[in-house]
Amino acid sequence: MRRAVCPGSFDPIHNGHLEVIARAANQFDEVVVAVSTNYAKRYRFSIDERIEMARRTLGAISGIIVEPMGEGLLAEYCRQRGASAIVKGLRSSSDFDYELPMAIMNRQLTGVETVFLPAEAHYVHLSSTLIKEVHDLGGDVSEFVPRSVLARLDATTPRRSP
Ligand code: PNS
Repeated sequence: MRRAVCPGSFDPIHNGHLEVIARAANQFDEVVVAVSTNYAKRYRFSIDERIEMARRTLGAISGIIVEPMGEGLLAEYCRQRGASAIVKGLRSSSDFDYELPMAIMNRQLTGVETVFLPAEAHYVHLSSTLIKEVHDLGGDVSEFVPRSVLARLDATTPRRSP
């Protein structure tokens, strides 16, 4: 069984994440989408909401499970879950510069490898932060998030007129 972990805040999950997770699922027997908690970060959505949004979109797909990652080391979480790889999407060279030291550190900590997948061109500009900002200012983000996430954004955001 080759298991991979796709970690992230997923605040909220968007189509760029989903595309990378789907490609990871083509390469591994099982993909654990690990929703992280970092108490230094301010999230729009609670951990339960972030997990629920991910499960609504991914929950029915065989070979993909969504779980809380907790607040500990990612490398240790992967060891406990029996995952041989972390899968991350890369949108740009700055993503790579940010990710590379963590990939090396994670491998040195527990031997877990990091696999980078180039982001699909249509989603290369996406981030949860940008999607929230555009949505909050009245922009249409329906092309970039699943319907259930759009509904949650609509329900939780006091939208202003553009
Ligand atoms: O979606 P994000 O916020 O960019 O996800 C970040 C995440 C969860 C991948 C990152 O914060 C992480 O790896 N957290 C675990 C803490 C850890 O292991 N730190 C040491 C990294 S070498």
